[in-house]
Amino acid sequence: MRNWLKWAGVTGVAGAVLAVAGYTFILPTIWTPLPNRSFNGIVGNVDSGNYLVRAAGCIACHTDIRNKGALFAGGPALETPFGTFFGPNITPDAETGIGKWSVEDFSAALTAGLSPSGEHYFPAFPYTNYTQMTSQDIADIKAYLETVLPASNPSRNNTLIWPFSDRNLMAGWKWLFFKQGEYQPDTVQTAEWNRGAYLVKGPTHCGACHTERNAFGARISKRLTGTSSGPNGHPVPGINAGENHIKGWTIEDITFALQTGLKPDGDVMGGAMGEVVEEGTSHMSDEDLRAIAVYLQSLDKEPAQ
Ligand code: HEC
Ligand code: HEC
Repeated sequence: MRNWLKWAGVTGVAGAVLAVAGYTFILPTIWTPLPNRSFNGIVGNVDSGNYLVRAAGCIACHTDIRNKGALFAGGPALETPFGTFFGPNITPDAETGIGKWSVEDFSAALTAGLSPSGEHYFPAFPYTNYTQMTSQDIADIKAYLETVLPASNPSRNNTLIWPFSDRNLMAGWKWLFFKQGEYQPDTVQTAEWNRGAYLVKGPTHCGACHTERNAFGARISKRLTGTSSGPNGHPVPGINAGENHIKGWTIEDITFALQTGLKPDGDVMGGAMGEVVEEGTSHMSDEDLRAIAVYLQSLDKEPAQ
């Protein structure tokens, strides 16, 4: 009996040591999505970057608009079931912003959810969508951000509930739920449809709000059928034009709604969508909004997955 106890004690301690070692050293490395973009020969276009930061919502999450914070110097509180996030300072300030980052560092954040020191970001930062962006679009955004006034403003720490506060755990999350990779055009579809699909899945990340999530905060459908618990716990309607409330909306109806915030019945789109329209889609070109509408109208034909 004594021998058995001794054995159990030793193996118990060994097991605990292994578990801690595995958690600390192995988990973060079992599946780190190594950034895989090359920027050789790609020159960022500032005007295009300026267009994209609005379309992609970067301003809203990285600027404390309500308190008149400097552009991109750090965002307002983002409440989630896992705690509160704050978009960091992404101005070119060398100490408190991203002034020292290369375009590769920047791309690793947007497409692989990795910081320059290799830490995992939480998906409150929608890199799960931005990973679909083209390298050219990423270089354009970086070029534009370099023209913004540097603001010295230390980023605020997230206040998350344990164990979600642990970045190492995101390795496992990514392994289960994250697929890195640029948008691949569907050759059966038109160029307009592909542009719409690219914008919706990538930069404008409509699905980040219009899709139901599982208990781990991962999206569980591709069909934008809405959720009962979106940002700040509010419900978000489906925008699958074949099945949901917007069934029967014409391409012009959808385009007009994204331009003005007005639905065909004269109602105003409010809450989080009001901000998306004001900060984002109302600044987008007619062609891009039309492309989004064309894509939304085809969504009921996507497999249920
Ligand atoms: C829905 C809100 C949201 C949107 C939209 C968003 N971000 Fe962020 N971003 C965040 C949060 C939150 C973090 C911090 C995540 C963390 O702590 O793991 C972050 C982190 C970052 C980082 C890492 C900064 C650092 O200091 O480590 C960069 C770079 C960044 N975002 C750039 C962008 C760009 C460019 C866009 C637009 C294409 C964008 N973000 C859109 C919320 C957002
Ligand atoms: C930050 C979260 C968020 C994002 C991102 C977002 N939406 Fe919304 N959307 C909402 C919410 C919340 C509503 C409900 C607004 C209301 O009821 O007043 C809504 C409503 C809508 C409606 C009206 C639907 C109806 O049945 O009345 C349309 C259309 C729409 N969104 C399209 C889009 C498109 C297209 C995108 C991407 C370009 C997008 N949304 C991105 C949160 C979001």
